[in-house]
Amino acid sequence: MRFASRISSLASPGKSGWHIHHVAKKMIQRGEEVILLTVGDSDFASPAGAVAAAGESLARGRTHYTSSAGERSLRDRIARWHTGRSGQKVDADQVIVTIGAQNALLTAALCLLDPGDEVIVPEPMYSTYPGTIATAGGIAVGVPSPAENRFHPLVDRMAAAVTARTRAVFLATPNNPTGAVYTLDELNAVGSICRQHDLWLVSDEVYGSLVFEGTHVSAAALPGLADRTVTIGSLSKSHAMTGWRLGWMIAPPPLAAVAASLSGYNTYGIPTFIQDAAVVALETEPEGAAGLKAAYAKRRRRMCEALEGIPGIAPHWPEGGMFVMLDVRLTNLTSHDFAAELLREYGVATLPADDFGQSTVGYLRINLGAPDDLIEEAAKRIAAYARELAKRRNVAPSEYAALQ
Ligand SMILES: Cc1ncc(COP(=O)(O)O)c(C=O)c1O
Repeated sequence: MRFASRISSLASPGKSGWHIHHVAKKMIQRGEEVILLTVGDSDFASPAGAVAAAGESLARGRTHYTSSAGERSLRDRIARWHTGRSGQKVDADQVIVTIGAQNALLTAALCLLDPGDEVIVPEPMYSTYPGTIATAGGIAVGVPSPAENRFHPLVDRMAAAVTARTRAVFLATPNNPTGAVYTLDELNAVGSICRQHDLWLVSDEVYGSLVFEGTHVSAAALPGLADRTVTIGSLSKSHAMTGWRLGWMIAPPPLAAVAASLSGYNTYGIPTFIQDAAVVALETEPEGAAGLKAAYAKRRRRMCEALEGIPGIAPHWPEGGMFVMLDVRLTNLTSHDFAAELLREYGVATLPADDFGQSTVGYLRINLGAPDDLIEEAAKRIAAYARELAKRRNVAPSEYAALQ
């Protein structure tokens, strides 16, 4: 059978890395006890106010077609929320409501890229970026953000990666998987590359309310960037509303107008009752769902403290987001083999991070979106496995310390 070339060229996102996740899901189905720390979802309930608002909206009959770019009340609320958080003044017409941030990323790619256009992306990158960019005919060009640089982008390397075909930079701050919170200087430097080469900047800020170290900076608010920056947001992570599929893009007016037209052929509108609930979520809990950030901060500390000083492994304290990265390279196992045995023998499912980019080969991504007791239990089991590996290899902990 023949498919469009854009589809044939798509690999499923992070294909091999997700193998562990699929095995873990099968084990759970068979009734085996597994702590699942793979996918970036959480155990937190969505805000009660949003749940109630969705019910009331349904009861009021808000079940019909709506404006394809989004309800005015929500676009207005998002615009004000964004201005409050970033300092960038935007109005409701610049906001397009989408099916989660993922649909906003695809909308941006479809609006900005022609076939063969290159997009510079600091890697490790969120696993859908290459496929999202490829769907629009573009090519993601990864530029390293190495562990030695705390997984922050090497801006000089980004500048060197610009070619005549480069059309845009996509980045996520805080980053998935590493949690790196890009600094003002870094974002200004990326911004000046964009200005110098007339590039678009797509700034994915879905983890913007989950920052533990440093300050979240919204690129569109920086001098000279408002006209070329698209801000991507969503309620998925900040409000534990992954399944509601409510996101947005905020764009300069001409791009917002084009994206609004595209929405007529793409989503044709987002469920009205979900938009009503989103207004309430942003109105009542503008900093993110109550207690969420503090809960992640606590889990981050527990996980990292429990894994520190264990032979062969080293946790990376994330500056933001909901994941801990674990360096397993000194065990001499691949991240996949480490994760596979950890799952099989210790019942903990983690995500090998090699598919996110060269900079995280040999790392695991550990999701913190599980109840505290499971996070603690998982940390204990990971530590026990690492100790067991060290014993098997007959390596004294002191030797590992020297290596580290
Ligand atoms: C960096 C990043 N961007 C976008 C998304 C997609 O989020 P949404 O659920 O809003 O589509 C995710 C989800 O994990 C993500 O990590």
